[in-house]
Amino acid sequence: MRHFLTIRDFKRNELLEIIELAIEIKKELHSTPIKYLEGKTLGMIFAKSSTRTRVSFEVGMYQLGGHALFLSSRDLQLGRGERMSDTARVISRMVDMIMIRTFSHSGIEEFAKYSKVPVINGLTDKYHPVQILADYMTMIEHGKGAKSNIAYVGDGNNIASSWLLFASKIGMDIRIATPKGYEVDADVVKYARECARISGSRILISNLPQEAVIFSDVVITDTWVSMGDEEEKEKRIADFEGFKVDSQLMAIAKKDALFMHCLPAYRGLEVTNGVLEGKQSVVFDEAENRLHAQKGVMVWLNNARKRHNLG
Ligand code: CP
Ligand code: NVA
Repeated sequence: MRHFLTIRDFKRNELLEIIELAIEIKKELHSTPIKYLEGKTLGMIFAKSSTRTRVSFEVGMYQLGGHALFLSSRDLQLGRGERMSDTARVISRMVDMIMIRTFSHSGIEEFAKYSKVPVINGLTDKYHPVQILADYMTMIEHGKGAKSNIAYVGDGNNIASSWLLFASKIGMDIRIATPKGYEVDADVVKYARECARISGSRILISNLPQEAVIFSDVVITDTWVSMGDEEEKEKRIADFEGFKVDSQLMAIAKKDALFMHCLPAYRGLEVTNGVLEGKQSVVFDEAENRLHAQKGVMVWLNNARKRHNLG
């Protein structure tokens, strides 16, 4: 049994297989959708807010013939101090898969250790792997593949870390610019550099947005104030000065570069309204692809395509 907790746990060909599967399933939606997960149940535990993750997992499960339960950790006994390990052992006896959005990554690892069924990371403070699958799927749809140069500008957070891992596994070049003190975790950079030696990916870690963005094919940013960082909001806004993605910064990327953002976006902070709403922005395709990418993950984890004699 496999979990989907971080890109780290997956080989290049497995990641590409999941994305190919997601693309196939997206096509099927417009012809003959197959109920790969008929009768299966997904428990969705949320310790943080969500729009895209919640709706895409719930609708995705329904479209695959299954059922999803929304479980807010505030309402679960988890919110009153029941252990992750006990919650995992109880819920995993009743459902077929579990998605969790929580704070610490060690919390989801603890949950997975005790779960009898596959656990999917719907975001932790450290990683947001399902988002990156949807992002790459969106790039492919817009004519960008593994030869792309990725630029990430902003906070060295869960999105930056997951993108760094993904690019270094796939063999894409990636340049990340963060303000000093907001770099991607050193253990993630170290592991990504090891992967890059095998895949041929070139990694640049910088504190200069222009150095990351120049001649890039895709420009990515994310909020400066992630869930859990709210108390540092004012300080962060000051520290991130010069890291806003605006038309001047986009102008030094390639002419046909895409702009991507996992959303929610805070216009006027990490990105201008003009860039977010502009011709290069594919943020709503990215959001829609969460649905298809996660269907790919759920079908893959259940080996459901093979069971339908299609894989
Ligand atoms: N991008 C993303 O995960 O959005 P939500 O927080 O709305 O789920
Ligand atoms: N980095 C953001 C992503 C939200 C989808 C956060 O963790 O809040």
